[in-house]
Amino acid sequence: MIQLSHSKVKILLATPPAGQEVTVKGWVRTKRGNKQVAFIALNDGSIVHSIQVVAIPENFSEELMKSITTGACLKVTGKLVESQGSGQPVEIQATEIELYGIADPNTYPLQKKGHSMEFLRDIAHLRPRTNTFGAVLRVRHAMAYAIHKYFNDLGFCYLHTPIITGSDAEGAGEMFRVTTLDIKNPPRTEEGKIDYNLDFFGRETNLTVSGQLEGELGAMALSDIYTFGPTFRAENSNTPRHLAEFWMIEPEMAFYEIKENMDLAEDFVKFLVRYALENCADDLNFFNQMYDNELVDRLKMVAETEFVRMSYTDAVEILVNSAQKWEFPVSWGSDLQAEHERYLVEKHFKKPVILTNYPKKIKAFYMFQNEDGLTVRGMDVLFPKIGEIIGGSQREHRLEKLTERMHEQNIEEKDMWWYLDTRRFGTAPHSGFGLGFERLILFITGMSNIRDVIPFPRTPRNAEF
Ligand code: 4AD
Ligand code: MG
Repeated sequence: MIQLSHSKVKILLATPPAGQEVTVKGWVRTKRGNKQVAFIALNDGSIVHSIQVVAIPENFSEELMKSITTGACLKVTGKLVESQGSGQPVEIQATEIELYGIADPNTYPLQKKGHSMEFLRDIAHLRPRTNTFGAVLRVRHAMAYAIHKYFNDLGFCYLHTPIITGSDAEGAGEMFRVTTLDIKNPPRTEEGKIDYNLDFFGRETNLTVSGQLEGELGAMALSDIYTFGPTFRAENSNTPRHLAEFWMIEPEMAFYEIKENMDLAEDFVKFLVRYALENCADDLNFFNQMYDNELVDRLKMVAETEFVRMSYTDAVEILVNSAQKWEFPVSWGSDLQAEHERYLVEKHFKKPVILTNYPKKIKAFYMFQNEDGLTVRGMDVLFPKIGEIIGGSQREHRLEKLTERMHEQNIEEKDMWWYLDTRRFGTAPHSGFGLGFERLILFITGMSNIRDVIPFPRTPRNAEF
């Protein structure tokens, strides 16, 4: 084990104080006090709480004491003792203070408490130093770890699918192009079209919108795989739930049909919620106190209740018969909007809902077609405050049915020869889904804008940092 000369604040706050000498390093959150005594709240990001450093100014130089301002970075050595004041179990009586870095109060932007989320987005390079973003980033980490743990314990294999691809997995055409051609003067074919033959990959390429298609290739060999990586969508959606770059977890399972797919999705998200409740209590209590006093109750509710499962058709009937005024009108065949999804979850059932058997017209080409000729075995998991958190389906594993659907949607067979090979050679029923990582973090933290649950959000007209 690595031995460090300093301790994390999180460890010290849980250590019985006996006057032992400790060293801590971190950033000043606040300093208050008077000529006789100064109280410095020091935070190193290991926990939402800061540790209180008590410094007697006459033991240190005047210049040092003046330089200890919000944002400055310090190394403090001193005695760990029981705190005299309320609010913290222990404090450090400083014997030595070293100033690593000043933060000029005239220019350091994180001065007073209670900055708006909009302001903090403009200083996303510094916002990890706030309690809120520290907590968000720790929860993000804990959830990433829990996701790997969940699948590892179930015997799933983590498959790395490509970020640069030549296909459009969702068939929605919302892709960022990847090219090394000179955009001012691209090479042209004889017909005057851009000649991608001369591009880096010798073809058109884009950033992936989903790892699913390659995930299916993995499942058709390893049975149970999952991906966990960045995905990119050039959809011009300026909403609190859309990012142009987001992370997605996509399990893909051979031999699972739609019911088992739903069972896995429900078990998976409940595991993650329970994991957060058990392992992120400090941060969740902080969010509950500061932002959303129903958060912890909502998390417990989701962890404990059975999700409602119903068909799209039945859901539309509920929506049509409700007295609700919709911004987007709804009838059989329409794509459900967040307002419809949230009505079902928050008003009608008051618990998470899994909808299945969507009209094939509004879903991607790869979904298993039901015998009615109208619907496919897609499934969306809908959550309170979020709407769709998971989208998935049983896949169409019958070659003819799949190619028929591709023709209807003008998807070229020759571009997807490798995908179709899984249906030619040893095809089998299989299923999978995608969990939007940031939507999960929104749900777990109770934050209200997806830009505030990813360190450096990418949205239309914003790629700073
Ligand atoms: O429903 P989607 O588009 O499904 C797929 O991409 C499938 N290939 C998944 C699969 O079956 N393997 O996206 C899946 C989830 C959504 O439910 C949502 O949580 C999230 O990804 N998502 C987004 N999150 C943030 N910003 C966006 N622009 C998102 N688009 C989808
Ligand atoms: Mg979807």
